[in-house]
Amino acid sequence: MNSKVKVTERYPRINLLRFVSYHLNNAFPIAADSFFVRIHIQAKKNHIFEARGLSKVYKMGEVEVVALKDVDFDLFPGEMMVLLGASGSGKSTLLNILGGLDTPTSGSVMYEQTMLSEANESELTQYRRKHVGFVFQFYNLIPSLTARENVALVTEISDNPMTPEEALGLVGLSDRMDHFPAQLSGGEQQRVAIARAVAKKPHVLLCDEPTGALDVETGKIVLKALDRVNREVGTAIAIITHNAAIAAMGDRVVQMSSGRIVENTINTERMSLDKIVW
Ligand SMILES: Nc1ncnc2c1ncn2[C@@H]1O[C@H](COP(=O)(O)OP(=O)(O)OP(=O)(O)O)[C@@H](O)[C@H]1O
Ligand SMILES: [Mg+2]
Repeated sequence: MNSKVKVTERYPRINLLRFVSYHLNNAFPIAADSFFVRIHIQAKKNHIFEARGLSKVYKMGEVEVVALKDVDFDLFPGEMMVLLGASGSGKSTLLNILGGLDTPTSGSVMYEQTMLSEANESELTQYRRKHVGFVFQFYNLIPSLTARENVALVTEISDNPMTPEEALGLVGLSDRMDHFPAQLSGGEQQRVAIARAVAKKPHVLLCDEPTGALDVETGKIVLKALDRVNREVGTAIAIITHNAAIAAMGDRVVQMSSGRIVENTINTERMSLDKIVW
């Protein structure tokens, strides 16, 4: 399939505009400028995240650790983004700020129409509860509850959730719903964690090294589950990984180094996980 057609189909209208403006800008930086500004204004309405000038400084007694330096970051509806970078480059700090788990020292973060960087604690709690799903390296399941009950914990406090059965079906665990975490493999536990994150139908999933504790084949199964959620439910996903090979599965790859975004690449084709070797 032609890659441009693919982009159009996956992201109706707005992503075609982004795609065209990106390439036009590369080819004719000056002539395209006013066109790009116009496109950008249209695109703004459709952001999941729009972060500008983000900095984060952790103070440890006398010592200051600068984790983010003047980062501009965008995530668009339905996008699958892979975030790469060396250890300590600021990936988790960025994701935690986007997820309302941490706050920036300076700069702004807009989530859809809401200025997150001005939200108070209780607004951030509401935001985390309703709008964003998290998947971490360790699954954080409750050991005394079955897979179904772990997911139900979230669906019971959500406004318009999937059923736990739907969410677990989406990650291929229909036949494991009544298993306790100790009766599940690591990859299955991570898929329960994904089902739990997705069940409340968030617009965005933030995943911090979701395959970090898994072997290659199990990691692929977990990534396939995320890929399916992205394609079938339309959830925008940002995945942090140390594994550069995974970059091929994303629509866009953002590379961080020493607290800055140093590369932002659009993949015109998303590679199937079956073809990715690492
Ligand atoms: N709560 C904190 N207090 C102090 N320093 C912190 C804190 N969190 C992160 N840092 C520092 O900020 C920098 C960026 O950390 P971050 O966790 O964002 O990196 P990372 O890219 O996710 O690394 P890794 O790949 O190892 O997870 C590091 O130097 C880290 O030591
Ligand atoms: Mg990290």
